[in-house]
Amino acid sequence: MAGLELERFIRARYPIVYLVSWEESRVEELLIGLGRRLGKNVFTWSVTRGIAPAGASVQSKRVLNASTADPVGGLKEVLERMDPSLYLFKDFHPYLRSPEVIRLLRDLGSHLRKSPKTLILLSPRLELPVELEKTVTVVDFPLPDFGELQAFVSNLAADLGEKGRFEVRLQGESRERLVRGLAGLTLEEAENVLAKSVIERGSLDGAALPGVLEEKKQIIRKSGVLEFQETSESLERVGGLESLKAWLGQRRDATSERARDFGLPAPKGVLLLGVQGCGKSLCAKAAASAWQQPLLRLDVSRIFSSLVGSSESNVRQAIKIAESVAPAILWVDEIDKAFAGVQSSAFSDAGTTARVFGGFITWLQEKTAPVFVIATANNVAALPAELLRKGRFDEIFFVDLPGAQDRAEILAVHLKGRRREARAFDVERLAALSEGYSGAELEQAVVSGLYAAFAAGRELSTDDVARAIQETVPLSKTMSEQIEGMRAWAKGRARPAA
Ligand SMILES: Nc1ncnc2c1ncn2[C@@H]1O[C@H](COP(=O)(O)OP(=O)(O)OP(=O)(O)O)[C@@H](O)[C@H]1O
Ligand SMILES: [Mg+2]
Repeated sequence: MAGLELERFIRARYPIVYLVSWEESRVEELLIGLGRRLGKNVFTWSVTRGIAPAGASVQSKRVLNASTADPVGGLKEVLERMDPSLYLFKDFHPYLRSPEVIRLLRDLGSHLRKSPKTLILLSPRLELPVELEKTVTVVDFPLPDFGELQAFVSNLAADLGEKGRFEVRLQGESRERLVRGLAGLTLEEAENVLAKSVIERGSLDGAALPGVLEEKKQIIRKSGVLEFQETSESLERVGGLESLKAWLGQRRDATSERARDFGLPAPKGVLLLGVQGCGKSLCAKAAASAWQQPLLRLDVSRIFSSLVGSSESNVRQAIKIAESVAPAILWVDEIDKAFAGVQSSAFSDAGTTARVFGGFITWLQEKTAPVFVIATANNVAALPAELLRKGRFDEIFFVDLPGAQDRAEILAVHLKGRRREARAFDVERLAALSEGYSGAELEQAVVSGLYAAFAAGRELSTDDVARAIQETVPLSKTMSEQIEGMRAWAKGRARPAA
């Protein structure tokens, strides 16, 4: 239950709690319940109304004191009133930039510790100045869990049944599927999407589910953190990497009910490390098509962008949503870029990166939902050691530059991809010429060759591709030291993908 953690803080007299959530009405309701249980009054504050009793309607005139609409006035009121109370300040984060407000909050902190009052700041995003870090406790308000969603659907069904205007046809399994489908949504979002379905169909029934999934796709798009990746790649279009392909192929049905019954543990995921342009991202996409599961790409660069809310709730919501559309593949591309700063996080960002990382690791280890994680990285040195420890991923693969035979295969794949018969080319000769070239560079050589042939008005030949190969300097030339470093690291720690 979402309220439990909050109740603990209130009972332990934490003076000021910062709640990160979009769900104002759910939080307010929860506080009213808590207040009743703990024998405290509950007040809300907003910049438009000042301090008012919680639950009072917007039109109500029961505003205690007009001067409390000013942020400083509001806080002074909290300081002066003596009765046991919970104060919920809505959308207070913009005022946390004012030195006067900061000073007042610090004074309030020590005063509230000795009083039966608690100040709760509620905002969809976390913006806390350093001065307040010791005074304010940050709590991420979780999305509704299965029990809350179940209660919500029951209430809604009862309401609709009473009104008698709409039919309710939700029994056993269809009800459970709908409730599970709602996971990842806030109560408000759940209410909106079900209301829409009831109005369109004249009834509440299992047919609301597709609408719920559509709504989730919308949220995934809006969240800016996850992205539905449409993909048509297949494992046949990956040249070489035999061992990795076989491993992925074997786990095709590993997340199914049938696999559980067979006694297989739920697979966690795989980490692909290695050289740029050698097919890591390609393999993630190919696996999703091969397994016929949705591919959700987690955009790590945006996890920490304050534009889309707090990093912690971003990751939590991404995980919730991935779990709610499971079985699915969660693709964490370039994970090294996200968690590079874990060690220095305490100094650089007040521990945010470390906390987000910790949450992710815990989930990876303990998750039960059939979400398979494919993470990719090319800077091994930047990866926190905890990520590589046993039990996090089922396997760590090292994707090296392709050997001669793999290069021939990759060239064949890309010739075929451009409507050429691979047999008409001497791919062995091309492979021999392209020692040290990555898959991406081989693809590029085929494309350059095509340009040359097209401009000269003739069909593509082996020579065109050979010339293109000789004209490029592969990245591995300029990066040989880094690549050697990666290889040395991977020895004994990771399994070769080829
Ligand atoms: N083994 C391969 N077989 C076929 N094509 C490949 C292979 N490796 C790379 N390519 C081609 O190169 C492109 C880029 O590869 P990809 O994005 O998968 O590399 P990556 O390993 O993820 O690199 P980075 O570390 O830079 O993200 C692919 O879209 C594909 O067209
Ligand atoms: Mg990539």
